[in-house]
Amino acid sequence: MSGRVALVTGAASGIGFAIAKLFAQEGCKVIVTDQQDGTAVANEIRSQGGEACYYHLDVTSEDEWKQVIQSVEKEYGALHILVNCAGINVRYTLTEMDLEDWKKILDVDLTGPMESVK
Ligand SMILES: NC(=O)c1ccc[n+]([C@@H]2O[C@H](COP(=O)([O-])OP(=O)(O)OC[C@H]3O[C@@H](n4cnc5c(N)ncnc54)[C@H](O)[C@@H]3O)[C@@H](O)[C@H]2O)c1
Repeated sequence: MSGRVALVTGAASGIGFAIAKLFAQEGCKVIVTDQQDGTAVANEIRSQGGEACYYHLDVTSEDEWKQVIQSVEKEYGALHILVNCAGINVRYTLTEMDLEDWKKILDVDLTGPMESVK
């Protein structure tokens, strides 16, 4: 893992946050991305001797994906590892859930990772 450039989505909290910290401990240069501010995560990694930076990325935005990937390749030369960890969950049954919630889940959890490889 040493020297590898790893981009983690949804890294401002939860599972993505834990993965970002672990990858940094393993020697990766970690690109912390999230739709909410992940500056504190990047700062925490750096304060523990790791290498990290934060980019805003809403995984449902094709434009933001393009901008972030371009910036990372320009800054770091290559992207070696991509972890699609951004996700949302609505804890209703199908009959209780409205269609807007359903579409949002598909956008973030399925279309987001698809856009990451486009
Ligand atoms: N925690 C668990 O035990 C568990 C188990 C199974 C599945 N999951 C699923 O894994 C995913 C992550 O879980 P978690 O516990 O880390 O959740 P979390 O809510 O702590 O973290 C999710 C992160 O994704 C970010 N995010 C949401 N929408 C985004 C978007 N459009 N673009 C970019 N970032 C976005 C949030 O800002 C947040 O930082 C969720 O979909 C969750 O349902 C979690």
